[in-house]
Amino acid sequence: MKGIVLAGGTGSRLFPLTRAMSKQLLSVYNKPLVYYPLSVLMLSGIRDILVISTPSTVPLLRALLGDGSQLGIRLSYAVQDEPRGIADAFRIGADHVGDDDVALILGDNLFHGAGFARRLQECAAAPDGCTLFGYPVSDPERYGIGEVDGDGMLVSIEEKPLRPRANNAITGLYFYDNEVVDISRRITPSARGELEITDVNREYLKQGRARLIRLSRGNTWFDCGTHDSLLAAGQYVQVIEQRQGVRVACLEEIALRMGFIDADACYRLGEQMRQSDYGRYLTEIAYALD
Ligand code: DAU
Repeated sequence: MKGIVLAGGTGSRLFPLTRAMSKQLLSVYNKPLVYYPLSVLMLSGIRDILVISTPSTVPLLRALLGDGSQLGIRLSYAVQDEPRGIADAFRIGADHVGDDDVALILGDNLFHGAGFARRLQECAAAPDGCTLFGYPVSDPERYGIGEVDGDGMLVSIEEKPLRPRANNAITGLYFYDNEVVDISRRITPSARGELEITDVNREYLKQGRARLIRLSRGNTWFDCGTHDSLLAAGQYVQVIEQRQGVRVACLEEIALRMGFIDADACYRLGEQMRQSDYGRYLTEIAYALD
């Protein structure tokens, strides 16, 4: 399975923070926001990942993450020169996806919780149609909203409905079989001129092949698209890391746990950053993973 992180857009809801700096490079407590979605793909077991962003941000992301070899993964980059919609990721990334299945994650989404990694690995192992993740929210009119039947199959989906029929926000993490590439070529731009991911998902729904996993209590999801949600995400990470002594979305640790790199490599990466808590943590856990 291939992965795509979609990390473009204008970030206009975060102005002036994002006038000169991409949203996905802003800090969420002690790491850049893009670490969090990237960690989700790595935890799914995906090692070949395309990062899509704006012309000015791609060089910065490349400077931050490189070609991924230090993490035992392969990162490549592509430019989206205008925000033409989330489903545009599959047009830009068609060659990257090739004949494979693919997981897409939005570059501003943060997931965390018990059992989440196992869930991800199950989805990546057996993709059939599409798998979406639902999260209960109090402001459903801000999101894509899905209704499910008793078997967890999607029965309706609406993008930012004025009168929502459910409170199940569809998060920015999507697993698809290879047909998504063709579907994304077929759909036409919406009234706001974008290739909507909801139109892609509606195609799978029509085929009866759209599943929605409702993230239960104990799982946390933020999209860091507003000042409040960006701050809340940072506070959440701070509390979890300080109280539990673990790290959220520590890419080097995940690479080690997933067997993408060995303990020596993890230790060396920590040494390169030993002035920071983050770097020291890596040197401490490299040979002592529980
Ligand atoms: O976060 C979950 C929500 O994400 C879903 O519930 C919605 O169904 C989905 O449409 C999306 O809604 P947003 O209002 O958050 O979409 P937005 O246009 O803000 O794009 C989300 C992220 O994707 C944002 O960080 C920028 C990036 N993006 C977006 C577009 C449209 C791109 O990189 N390129 C694009 O063309």
